[in-house]
Amino acid sequence: MASAHHRQFSQSLLISSPFWRAKLEQLSHPSAIRMAEVLEPAEPLGIGRGDDAFWKGFKHSYGEKDSNIDYLLRVKTQHPEKIALVQIGEFYETWGIDSVFLVEYCGLNRMGKRGPRAGLPLANIQTVLNKLTAANFAVVVCEQAEDVNKNGRKTRFIAEVITPSSPIYTYGLAMDKHRGETFFPDCPPEFGFAKNKSGIIVVEVNPDLRTVFTLDALTPEAAFMRLSRYAGRLARIFYHENFPNDFFDVSYLHHVNLINVSGYLPQDFPRRIEELIKIDLALSTEIPFTRIAPADTVMENSPRPLYLGTAQQIGLLSERGVPSLIDHMLPKGSPATCQNLLRHFLLNPPPQSIATHLRQTLQRLISTALVCVTTFPVSNPARYIKVLQKHEANPDILQDLFQMTEAYLACYDSPFAPAIAQALQVVSHRLNMCLSEQVLRESSEFIIEKLTPILPHEDDQARQPTHAQISKYLFENIDEAFRGRVAKTSNKDILRHYNTVAKAALRYEKALTEDLIPWIERREKERRDNKKLKPFALSYDVHNKAIWMRGPVNKVEPGYQKLCHPMDRYGKEVSDRWTTHKVEKYLREYKAAAEQARLSVVALLTDIAKTLLPHSLSIVHLATFSNLLRTLILHVKECQTKQWSLAYRQHSHSRHRLEMSECFPYWMLPHVAVKNSLSLQNVALLTGHNMAGKSTILRTSAVVTLLASAGFMFPAQHVSVKEPIDGWFVRTGASDDPEAGLSAFAVEMHDIKIALRDASENTLILIDELGKGTESKAGHAIAGSVLEYLYQNNIQSIFSTHWHELFFNSAIDLDSIQKICMENQQGKATYKVVSGRCTSSFAFETALQLGIEASLIDRAKTIAKHYELNNRYQTTPSPAPFFIAENIGGYVTHSLIRAGKVLCEVTGMAEVSITYLSSDAYPLLKDSNSSAVYILRTAEGFYYTGETDNIHTRIETHRQSDTKKFCEVIYILVAEGKSKARKYETQITLKLQSLGFPMLSVNDAKHRHFGSA
Ligand SMILES: Nc1ncnc2c1ncn2[C@@H]1O[C@H](COP(=O)(O)OP(=O)(O)OP(=O)(O)O)[C@@H](O)[C@H]1O
Ligand SMILES: [Mg+2]
Repeated sequence: MASAHHRQFSQSLLISSPFWRAKLEQLSHPSAIRMAEVLEPAEPLGIGRGDDAFWKGFKHSYGEKDSNIDYLLRVKTQHPEKIALVQIGEFYETWGIDSVFLVEYCGLNRMGKRGPRAGLPLANIQTVLNKLTAANFAVVVCEQAEDVNKNGRKTRFIAEVITPSSPIYTYGLAMDKHRGETFFPDCPPEFGFAKNKSGIIVVEVNPDLRTVFTLDALTPEAAFMRLSRYAGRLARIFYHENFPNDFFDVSYLHHVNLINVSGYLPQDFPRRIEELIKIDLALSTEIPFTRIAPADTVMENSPRPLYLGTAQQIGLLSERGVPSLIDHMLPKGSPATCQNLLRHFLLNPPPQSIATHLRQTLQRLISTALVCVTTFPVSNPARYIKVLQKHEANPDILQDLFQMTEAYLACYDSPFAPAIAQALQVVSHRLNMCLSEQVLRESSEFIIEKLTPILPHEDDQARQPTHAQISKYLFENIDEAFRGRVAKTSNKDILRHYNTVAKAALRYEKALTEDLIPWIERREKERRDNKKLKPFALSYDVHNKAIWMRGPVNKVEPGYQKLCHPMDRYGKEVSDRWTTHKVEKYLREYKAAAEQARLSVVALLTDIAKTLLPHSLSIVHLATFSNLLRTLILHVKECQTKQWSLAYRQHSHSRHRLEMSECFPYWMLPHVAVKNSLSLQNVALLTGHNMAGKSTILRTSAVVTLLASAGFMFPAQHVSVKEPIDGWFVRTGASDDPEAGLSAFAVEMHDIKIALRDASENTLILIDELGKGTESKAGHAIAGSVLEYLYQNNIQSIFSTHWHELFFNSAIDLDSIQKICMENQQGKATYKVVSGRCTSSFAFETALQLGIEASLIDRAKTIAKHYELNNRYQTTPSPAPFFIAENIGGYVTHSLIRAGKVLCEVTGMAEVSITYLSSDAYPLLKDSNSSAVYILRTAEGFYYTGETDNIHTRIETHRQSDTKKFCEVIYILVAEGKSKARKYETQITLKLQSLGFPMLSVNDAKHRHFGSA
């Protein structure tokens, strides 16, 4: 029987449909899971028949009749993949599958013990919608109204469809005093992708602004960049049937709903997307969406949008351990809108022309006093457009519109005036829409003209009753419905209604005074003689909005016939309260007058919405202008005191390709930071010990040049470039990406691949510690080859590394590469960049300073020695494998390890003071300053002992001879000086000899020992 009904329903209403099944699989809240378990798989919405006890109260006729559930079913038939909320009195409710998600995502409790049901108080609607849209749901909100034709019965209607890209509920907003401040977040648009011969078509629809932005002929990377700005925030993507959908096969799109659009030509695809979105939002086809093509400036040589990793490394997108860049460009607590605006401009660096406009606007702000005189409200432009389109012109929102329009016009009379045109260029670039300044001024004047008379400015108070017994709250609560929204002088109609209300309130008060107050006064008099008598009092009933008398009325008292019991709002007699017919009549009249006044205010607000709507484009510009100016003012306020600068110069005759002077980390104050000046010609190789400031220099260089090129203030004295920078790439540290199945090393290689593929000579590439995710031989080799590539391709870059092997590997020619290093004085970092190289890491010292146990470090030093020795053995089999020889049992029993023991015995030093050099390694430069005694072993397995005052040049000299070319060395520094070293040398030679070490030459030792004595 039931199955006959099912066929009328779309499969999507069954909980087994792919859409709902996928959503159910993600449940995690225990109560939600329990609720889901009782859903009826074979029935629409999972709601069972009312004849089963569990489903009692869920009676329905499969959507045909008029129970609440029938209504829900009808709505869901129209919107099968959305959650529906239906107003029932003071609540929004829903049943079946939808209620499960309210419990899962909104922290609501299940209502009642029978079938699954959940609801929320009317006032919580936006909070719940925010949670549902954050979980990628779309929601249909249905409201209830008196049905004029069915006296007293309710009708329901779909008030609004809410989606992640249009998440704010505006129904009833105009007259709602509390929701005017609702925050309109900056939402991702709806995306569509298609492809034709000339490339990829990207369609971006903003349903609240009612705009359709189409980009054409894009490369896959450029198309992808549009999406990646909203990583993690996208709910769904439309794509044309011919579009390869493996394009979307990246980790952050895994949860996105991909919708295939078929049956349209690629050129008709944007129109189809617009239609689909209108259907989805239950909008009429007649509502116009503005078609936008990219402004010329978008295409005009803009630098490449930042890579995700780069944005994270410079703190533009959140990344653990990297200070937020935006937080340091604006004062604490700045509005999110300002933060988003800055982030947008830095993630998508503007072309030179726009950057120049921005810079000059900022300069103007700095040189004028505008910073403190004008206030620019901030908000998402969609806030204005959506409420005007829904005819919900909330007075608070109108007030902001007025204020920002006034602020805009005030600019013309301020010293800022010359920069208005430039700021507007930036606005047009941000919006991808152009508007002439003339039109904007005319619209602004129109808006001011229309809003001036209606915005409330006078004291708009409800009647203040004169008698102390009469509660003023009644008058306030009744008038609350219309007062304070618009000026009472807005128009004749409003004024008339205000007067009618005032008269009605006065009459009501008069009736109370005539009919009920005498009872109270008389009783007061009686009570003077008889304290036991109970008093009479007027009491205000909030729910029924009425003033009634309470007290023990006696039938014999005079005037009793005039009294009666009042009716409550449900028509029930209230037997413990008294009133008179006259009082009730005047109360009804007063309420009716207030309702008329409310309707006239609604009409006025609807009217003003309709009047302003044609100026939407101007309003979007005004709002963006206001947001921009507020952001720039905050930026100046924050950064001027921190000595950030605007001195950026692009000059093709500059001496260097890139020069930065006195730059400092963006998260530090100028007086504590060490400032550095740096000029780049090609690649600079940066070395320095741990914690010396290498990574900081890289981040600082990226941030300073990015901010300077984009037109913002930057933490440096000045920046000059020969050619504008066309892209930034910052790669520091290693992190894995488990979701994409990439190891840390794979991520690094992937990033480098992309950077080298995209880089031009004018790209700034900053690479920190490349190749650390793998073993050292391959790691340093990859680093070396990338370094060479950057040099050969003349790419301006800084390449920081701990791979000191690079300096000693003869395959890499570093001669013509600029070498810079972090200065260090007596082992302490000064954070200054100087020219030169640094081949010590000070890792142990740094670790000690950071509080690692000294014993642990000592042990680490020992392990380090053995690492060096063993590493040699494991990775590069020597032509004469002497380490192995030790194990050949008896025949050759000599090794560098044993020689090392001799070195220690003779000098009395610990094993940790021995430095080991593999056949291609050189001593640390700092070791060249003291005397040293060393033992060398040739590739053929012969030993040689020597002493020197410059171990570095000595080893170099040895390696120039054929026999010692591939020698390995161990050495110890002799602090006491040359004569002591010489003594050791002799003793060691004799000892090695006596132990049977094959010596390359013993004459030297003998000669010295005897000859020079
Ligand atoms: N210009 C500077 N002024 C003041 N302090 C600085 C400066 N540069 C770096 N520092 C300080 O030094 C710390 C370490 O800097 P950074 O991380 O850049 O070192 P590093 O050379 O990259 O070290 P490692 O080789 O261990 O990665 C910073 O966190 C900061 O506190
Ligand atoms: Mg570092």
